[in-house]
Amino acid sequence: MNAPVRFDTLPRFATAEKAIESLKPSEPLYLVRPKKFVAAARQFLDGFPGDVLYAVKANPHPIVIEQLWSAGIRHFDTASQGEIEIIKSLFPAAICHFMAPVRLPGQAKIAFEKHGVTDFVVDSDSELDKLLAETGNSKKLRIFVRLVAQLGGALLEMSSKYGCKPEDAAKLLKRVKAAGAQPCLTFHVGSQCLSPFSYAQAIEIAQRTINLAGVEIAALDMGGGFPAAYAGQEPPPFHWYFDMIKEALSNLGRPNLNVMCEPGRALVAEGISLVTQVVMRRGDRLYLNDGIYGSFDEQRFASFDENYPPTGFALDAKGNAKPLSGDPRPFRAFGPTCDSADVLPRPQMLPDTIATGDFVLFGSMGAYTVSSRSPFNGYYPDSWAIIDN
Ligand SMILES: Cc1ncc(COP(=O)(O)O)c(C=O)c1O
Repeated sequence: MNAPVRFDTLPRFATAEKAIESLKPSEPLYLVRPKKFVAAARQFLDGFPGDVLYAVKANPHPIVIEQLWSAGIRHFDTASQGEIEIIKSLFPAAICHFMAPVRLPGQAKIAFEKHGVTDFVVDSDSELDKLLAETGNSKKLRIFVRLVAQLGGALLEMSSKYGCKPEDAAKLLKRVKAAGAQPCLTFHVGSQCLSPFSYAQAIEIAQRTINLAGVEIAALDMGGGFPAAYAGQEPPPFHWYFDMIKEALSNLGRPNLNVMCEPGRALVAEGISLVTQVVMRRGDRLYLNDGIYGSFDEQRFASFDENYPPTGFALDAKGNAKPLSGDPRPFRAFGPTCDSADVLPRPQMLPDTIATGDFVLFGSMGAYTVSSRSPFNGYYPDSWAIIDN
């Protein structure tokens, strides 16, 4: 793996077709769409009633962080020392929040002492003990107790690993208060949450927890989960989510409460498309140059039943990239590694004319793609270009 490429060094094209024509990429090629990043960031910054933290895990690439920073994002949900270091090395003025409820020993100490991080999450007594010990029981801390929010509105649930029930959360809030830090609450309704109502339900759970604890909270962080557009899915518009959240917050009756959210997918998915090449076609099988161990890791999740929208392109006799014509039919798309598991689990609908050497463009490839790629078997997608249109 080489040092990360930087935005200002990338080739720039008006359209994906122009990039394919010019580069004829035999390696997977990420196409960065700056306007999409700006549009997504603006929707959150203008519409969400509080601080917008970008969840770095969705895509920690410097190109992506730079896009979001220039669009006005200043807060970052960093879930490890490594993520804090990425953000601080790019933008020392960025505000990092350490929002993982279980941290490696010593990481909270470094985050607090070296990087000035004061927001942390816990969901257990032992992590609270560890956090207080590592930060010298600092009164500056805002400690977010993570609630379980298994509400069924999301394609990828996030509550079977982290979070606690209101009764246990109430006890932790009391402990945080007794320790002199600021008690706060957080939840994650699950990723690709298609139901705005889930946020209102989770805010109600927070309300119940506050009542149980008899402790006022200093901040409420409603995690990520806001959806991105994928093929075959039309998620509700963001303003439905924001309206639902505002209404639920007004029922909470704490107008001065600091409110936060941590979108990952929704800020970055649509900002990157991916060009792959058909290395070989055999019948209904396409062997692509990228797969499960590269940019398609998230396709492994059975519940994640949307597809990236593929479009086939071929170069004509003049070298122009043209969309393939013909009726779409299902193909099995294999990745480049030797592992039989390296196959996209769902059929890819592409015209029957597709042939070896053609290109397949996948949209909405900015989230949980670049961040999960591995160098397994000697393949590591890392070619980039900018698309202005
Ligand atoms: C604590 C936390 N916040 C935010 C996110 C981002 O979620 P999403 O990409 O669904 O917005 C995640 C995802 O794992 C998370 O664990």
